[in-house]
Amino acid sequence: ALFSDRINSAGINLHMSCMREPFLAALEAWSNNEWQAGAVINGVTQLDTSSRPVNCPAQPQELVGQVHDADRNLTELAIAAAHAGFANWHKTPIEHRAVALEKLADLLEQHSDELIALCVREAGKTLQDSIDEVREAVDFCRYYAQQGRALFAKPQLMPGPTGESNTLSLEGRGVFACISPWNFPLAIFLGQISAALVAGNTVVAKPAEQTSLIAHRTVALMLEAGFPNEVIQLVPGPGAEVGQTLSEDERIAGVCFTGSTATAKRINLALANRAGAIVPLIAETGGQNAMIVDSTALPEQVAKDAVQSAFASAGQRCSALRVLYVQDDIAERVIELLQGAMAELRVGLPASYASDLGPVIDSAAQQKLLAHIEHISEHGKLLYQTPLPSKQSGYFVPPSLIEIDGIKQLTEEQFGPILHLVRYKASQLEQVIADINSTGFGLTLGIHSRNEGLAQRIAKQVRVGNVYINRNQIGAMVGVQPFGGQGLSGTGPKAGGPHYLQRFVTERTVTNNL
Ligand code: NAD
Ligand code: ALA
Repeated sequence: ALFSDRINSAGINLHMSCMREPFLAALEAWSNNEWQAGAVINGVTQLDTSSRPVNCPAQPQELVGQVHDADRNLTELAIAAAHAGFANWHKTPIEHRAVALEKLADLLEQHSDELIALCVREAGKTLQDSIDEVREAVDFCRYYAQQGRALFAKPQLMPGPTGESNTLSLEGRGVFACISPWNFPLAIFLGQISAALVAGNTVVAKPAEQTSLIAHRTVALMLEAGFPNEVIQLVPGPGAEVGQTLSEDERIAGVCFTGSTATAKRINLALANRAGAIVPLIAETGGQNAMIVDSTALPEQVAKDAVQSAFASAGQRCSALRVLYVQDDIAERVIELLQGAMAELRVGLPASYASDLGPVIDSAAQQKLLAHIEHISEHGKLLYQTPLPSKQSGYFVPPSLIEIDGIKQLTEEQFGPILHLVRYKASQLEQVIADINSTGFGLTLGIHSRNEGLAQRIAKQVRVGNVYINRNQIGAMVGVQPFGGQGLSGTGPKAGGPHYLQRFVTERTVTNNL
């Protein structure tokens, strides 16, 4: 059905003081908490390896917890545990699997204060982003539970000659490795796992090094929700060791990966070179996302949507706007409005209600982004930079607007609050489209135009997964804007869409001559 009775979760409205004040008070209880994480194998947290501290990106002197990383040996034990668990789990009725996911969604809502505190303190996410993160995780659980019931309840009857029955059924493939990034440490981490599990696979999950604490807490909630110990294994640790071990192990029946394009290619290579079956890689990767603004667009709306698309979450969204193409007739007006809107942005501590954006994830990311701003400003023109708070020690990067000649000047994705602006003439539109396509990335595209025919034509010509017309281009909602790219941006299918679960299964046809 096009519309279902499932509704996305409501979250907390920070603009209403009657919701905000109790929420901030509840959050306070977690402001000094220290968490601990380690590999979880068959339900037992492994704390024997040495630990490393986790610090807050906004205040690196603040300790958030300790992580005991998995090594190659623990990773292999985790694979063995998930491999053994598959025998029972793939025979478990879909109703049982779906109910466990729905129970998990309820638990995420009940524990949302703690999970939000973890997003804020471990990942440096603002309050609004952290609220949205929990909402999206809840939505993934309920959406995939609903999709799972529709797909797996009974085999599909196929047409055939009289006297013969033909059925097609979908079944879990085996052990899925779910490898996730730090920028959606709960939503993407759990979106991958919940899809794999409801489809009848068992999972070994490898979270990003930077966000292992929230991953560990989430797995604890999964076990509380009723997922058997053997179906979900957690292996925090370095990508080059733990992630690589997963990709090379022939007991892994599929990999679901979200992260950079370079890592996706590394995993693809490891899968190709290993022994055993040919297995699928689901990869959701980076972008070089543009917005095309023609002279019929409303400059005020363009400025609002471009600022949100480029700077929300400190630009650390794969969907974020990186290159704003503005037709020259309205470029000066749009620049003036952008500068005004950027002057209003508040960069600050993510736990503060007043902050529009917080820090980037770590010192390495900060240094890389600052170096890019310096380098590209020498070849272009720095149009505006939002001031940073004084006296801060966090990994902040000033939101920056830089005029350049074209998208081809950018050699790689800059994963932070940097917006490049390019002026174009109406006669150059075809070249603009060709240049955007020539990057090879294909994630999001924004279009601002009141010329509906032109907007539709551009939407068809630019090869991307998600097109947004006359609005911002971030924040895809589960079940509303199925999300994912093409080309260098990923293999598809789209997360939060009706075709996602099918990529986690194998299909079996049974022909019975009655
Ligand atoms: P990353 O590629 O550095 O790391 C992602 C994960 O891969 C981490 O868990 C990491 O430990 C692991 N990893 C690293 N090397 C590995 C290896 N050799 N084998 C197996 N696993 C390995 O990416 P990141 O910095 O964590 O995340 C940012 C990137 O993610 C950006 O490029 C962003 O565009 C992308 N992203 C894409 C989407 C999407 O849906 N398309 C969503 C969010 C983020
Ligand atoms: N799904 C996330 C967004 O749309 C990445 O911004």
